[in-house]
Amino acid sequence: MKGIILAGGAGTRLYPLTIVTSKQLLPVYDKPMIFYPLSTLMLGSIREILIISTPEDTPRIEELLGDGSKFGVDLSYAIQEKPEGLAQAFTIGRDFIGDDACAMVLGDNIFYGNGLNHKLRDARTDAENGRATIFGYYVEDPKRFGIMEFERGDSRTDSLKVISVEEKPKQPKSNYAIVGLYFYPKGVSDMAAEVKPSARGELEITTLNDMYLQQGRLNAQLLGRGYTWMDAGTFDSLQKATDFVSMIEQYQGMTISSPEEIAYHMGWINDEMLAKSVMRYGKSPYGERLKAVLEGKVVI
Ligand code: G1P
Repeated sequence: MKGIILAGGAGTRLYPLTIVTSKQLLPVYDKPMIFYPLSTLMLGSIREILIISTPEDTPRIEELLGDGSKFGVDLSYAIQEKPEGLAQAFTIGRDFIGDDACAMVLGDNIFYGNGLNHKLRDARTDAENGRATIFGYYVEDPKRFGIMEFERGDSRTDSLKVISVEEKPKQPKSNYAIVGLYFYPKGVSDMAAEVKPSARGELEITTLNDMYLQQGRLNAQLLGRGYTWMDAGTFDSLQKATDFVSMIEQYQGMTISSPEEIAYHMGWINDEMLAKSVMRYGKSPYGERLKAVLEGKVVI
């Protein structure tokens, strides 16, 4: 199973913040935004990850994350020359994906909730068995997102039957946004190559999801109460994301979405490697919280 972080886009909704830096390198409280989607893939036990960004931003992101060894993962990089749509990630990543199933997370999407790893594991198993998965999250402003219409399936299995998917509908058929985390079976690059540009000229991920729906190969899971999902791409949502993470971390005294911590608890890096990161981050709150992990004070 492979994973892609799509960290492209000009970030114009955050100007002037993003004129000279990447949106995904902006802080969300105590760490750069891209740590959050990286953590999400790692929670799904995905260790071969391609990061796709703009020609300007890719070198900076690579400078921050390197080859991934400090997080116990294997990172590679590719460039999206122009922001021509999310589905393009799978044609850009064709060689990287090869004959594997592949997940994708958007570089500004933040996920938090106990048990997320189980949901990711289910989506992964389904992708390896030929079915795609999207995730739905209740929102008050459905016109801003991809939206899924669905029926409840078997209540014992929590399964959903997707009826339709629509990108930023004028008349939304539900309040459930399709979040920026997708799992696809092998062959996704060929499917993505068939996607035609939408009215706004983009290769929409929603068109790709609709193709899986038409083939009867689209699953959906809900991220219900107890989960937090944020798309930190606007000033308000970036501010809310920072408030949320600061509240959780200060209240619980633990770091969240730390790739080093996840790697350590997964057994992908050893004490010595974590100690190096603790040294590197020094007396910053992030470094201090990682130190507590190294000292064995935080066990989950
Ligand atoms: C994109 C997708 C949309 C999805 C959203 C999640 O929208 O096109 O379907 O709901 O990400 O963050 P964008 O952020 O590019 O407007």
